Amino acid sequence: DKGNHRHFMQKEIYEQPIVVAQTLRSYLQRFEGRIVLPIPDFDLSGIRRVTIVACGTSFYAGMVAKYWFEQFARVPVDLDVASEFRYRAPVMEEGGLALFISQSGETADTLAALRHARAEKQVIAVVVNVPTSTMAREADLLLPTHAGPEIGVASTKAFTCQLAVLAALAANLAKAKGRLTEAEERNIVRQLAEAPAAINGALAYDESIEAIAGTVAGARDVLYLGRGTDYPLALEGALKLKEISYIHAEGYAAGEMKHGPIALIDEHVPVVVIAPTGPLFDKTVSNMQEVQARGGKVLLISDYDGVEAAGEGCVATITMPKVHPLIAPLVYAVPVQLLAYHVAVAKGTDVDQPRNLAKSVTVE
Ligand code: F6R
Repeated sequence: DKGNHRHFMQKEIYEQPIVVAQTLRSYLQRFEGRIVLPIPDFDLSGIRRVTIVACGTSFYAGMVAKYWFEQFARVPVDLDVASEFRYRAPVMEEGGLALFISQSGETADTLAALRHARAEKQVIAVVVNVPTSTMAREADLLLPTHAGPEIGVASTKAFTCQLAVLAALAANLAKAKGRLTEAEERNIVRQLAEAPAAINGALAYDESIEAIAGTVAGARDVLYLGRGTDYPLALEGALKLKEISYIHAEGYAAGEMKHGPIALIDEHVPVVVIAPTGPLFDKTVSNMQEVQARGGKVLLISDYDGVEAAGEGCVATITMPKVHPLIAPLVYAVPVQLLAYHVAVAKGTDVDQPRNLAKSVTVE
C-alpha cells in the first residue's frame, strides 16, 4: 500500500526517519550511552582485518563503512563488489571479519562470495534486511536492518538503515580494539540518535529539490562529485539517477576530475557536488570551481555555511541541516534520492519498476 504517496520509492524515502530509528534501537542503549550488537558478547577484539563485499547500493554502503572502520577502529579494510571478489584470488588471513551487506539477503554473487569467505575461515557478518533470507541463516554475526519490506526496485530506506548499522559496527569494533573512550562512545550514541531527526530535516527540502529537477531532466549526462564518505554518495547518486531516469550519470571522487572526466564538462552537463562543510570542504569547492570555469552547471548540496561560502555561481543549491560528519552520509543520501526521484517523475519513467531491473538479483 502506497498510502498517500505516488510511488513506493517516494513512500520509502519518507519512511527513513522511522525505520532508521527502528534499526538503531537494536544497536544503541540510548540512556546508558552504549553501543551494543544484537549478539552482545560477540568478541571482535581479535579482528585484524575486515573484508567488505556487496553489490550495487549495498556496496556503496560498504564503501562508506570502509572510511569509518579505518578512521575509528584503525583496522585495514578490503572492499570489493561481489562479482569481482568471488573470481579474483583475494588473500584472507584466517580469523578475519568478512562483512556482507544485502537488502534481500539472496543476491547470487554476494551469497557465493560469503561461502567463499566461509571456506577461507573468515568470521561471517551479514547486514541484511530480510531476516528469513539465506544470508541471514548463514551468518555468524547477524546484523539486521529494520527497514521493513522495500518494494521500489531502487533501494533507498535499506541503504540508510545499512549505514546506521555499519556506523554502530564501526564504533563497536573501535571499542573492542580499545580505541574508543566511554566519553567518545557516548558522543557517537548521541550523534546517531539524532540521525532520524536530521533525516527529517533533509526531507523538508523536498519541494525545493523538485523545483530544480528540471535542470537535470533534460540532460544527457550528469556527474556527481564528492570526497571522503561523500564519494560513495556521489556513486550512489549517479546509480539512483541512471536506474530510474535512464540518464547517463557518473560518480567521481572530486579530486579525480582533473585526471580525465573534466574533459566532459560544458554547459550541457549538470554536476551535482556533495560537500558538507568540514575538513574536505575547501578541496571539493576548488574542484567545483574548476568545473564552473569550464561552463559546467553546478548543483551544490551542502549545509547553510557551505552554501553561503560557495553557492555563488551555482545553478542551484540544496541546503541540508548541519550535522556531525558521522551521520552526514545518512542525511545527504536523502537529497540524492529525492533528486533522482523527481527527475524520473519529470521524465515520466516507471519509478518503481524501471526497465531491465529486478528487485532481487538471484542469478549471477
Ligand atoms: C540499486 C539497487 C541494487 C541493489 C543490488 C544489491 O538501487 O537496488 O543496486 O542494491 O542489486 O541488492 P541486495 O542489497 O539485495 O544484495
